[in-house]
Amino acid sequence: MKMIATARAHPNIAFIKFWGLEDELNRIPANGSLSMNIAPLATTTTVEFDSDLKEDALTLNGVKVTGESLLRAQHFMDRIRRLAGETVYARIHSENNFPMGVGLASSASGFAALALAGTTALGLDLSERALSGLARFGSGSACRSIPGGFVEWLVDPMNGESYAQSMAPPEHWDLADCIVVLSDDHKAVGSEVGMRSAHSSPLQDARVRDADRRLEACRQAILKRDFARLARVTELDSNLMHAVMMTSDPPLYYWHPQSLAVMKAVKAWQGEGLQVTFTLDAGPNVHVITPQENVEEISQCLRRMPGVLDVLIAVPGGPAELVDETGYLRCERYN
Ligand code: PMV
Repeated sequence: MKMIATARAHPNIAFIKFWGLEDELNRIPANGSLSMNIAPLATTTTVEFDSDLKEDALTLNGVKVTGESLLRAQHFMDRIRRLAGETVYARIHSENNFPMGVGLASSASGFAALALAGTTALGLDLSERALSGLARFGSGSACRSIPGGFVEWLVDPMNGESYAQSMAPPEHWDLADCIVVLSDDHKAVGSEVGMRSAHSSPLQDARVRDADRRLEACRQAILKRDFARLARVTELDSNLMHAVMMTSDPPLYYWHPQSLAVMKAVKAWQGEGLQVTFTLDAGPNVHVITPQENVEEISQCLRRMPGVLDVLIAVPGGPAELVDETGYLRCERYN
């Protein structure tokens, strides 16, 4: 039997952020989160099990991965093997179609694609829910890259079985994410390590306690395509998460001076009546969200700002899917 499969998944950008685990062992988040998959950005991963291998081997964009990143992938593969009752190791080839080392997190799309390709190669046919629940053990936000479109990660709906589900398909709302690349530095502190100290901030409790209210506001904004409401709650949520980061012990400062300059430009454009908002993950790059009709105008303004290395344009993306080795869609997995 040929134990090989290829899958593709998009990264996602969260309007309501995940920052901190309630239960580290079961990877239950402190609060629910809500995001949009971003296409055409994608990771395509082929997993091939081979009984001649002595351990899992991983390449990322053709380069052999070692150290901590390899270990993380191997631990995740162990989880897939346990599910399938298998012991055989795999060769994993992963390709990102977006620039590497520019602070764009690829762990969400990476672990979502690995979960789908790895389980399929071992003959498991997991439901979307089970696959999403599995992906969260690779990286929390990866569970939100399994379903398509606008996606909510539910905290603990089934007692230890946390997973994400789609709340609206990609075509529900013609939004765009203009990703303002400000730095090609590697992240000082990755999100997995950074969020371990979230509880040390006196603000984390208040952020988590208020999360259900923000989630509901965000859900309503998306369902009704109410941009003004989405903008208010998205900026509040991003600022709350960064306030927690900056007041943690040790403090984490992810913003660069240019990040703040972009945020202020967005506020000025809002003042002129433009539908535009911002959100930042654990890094200096700013995701500027706007209806697709504004992309031309806004991305041109962003490109002219000092310190801006690039502006990538993304739109709502579909679910993680099986593809053939050349990247073509193999089947409609979920309908
Ligand atoms: O689980 P991770 O390591 O992908 O954490 C994601 C953390 C943020 O990107 C900052 C927020 C989020 O919800 O995506």
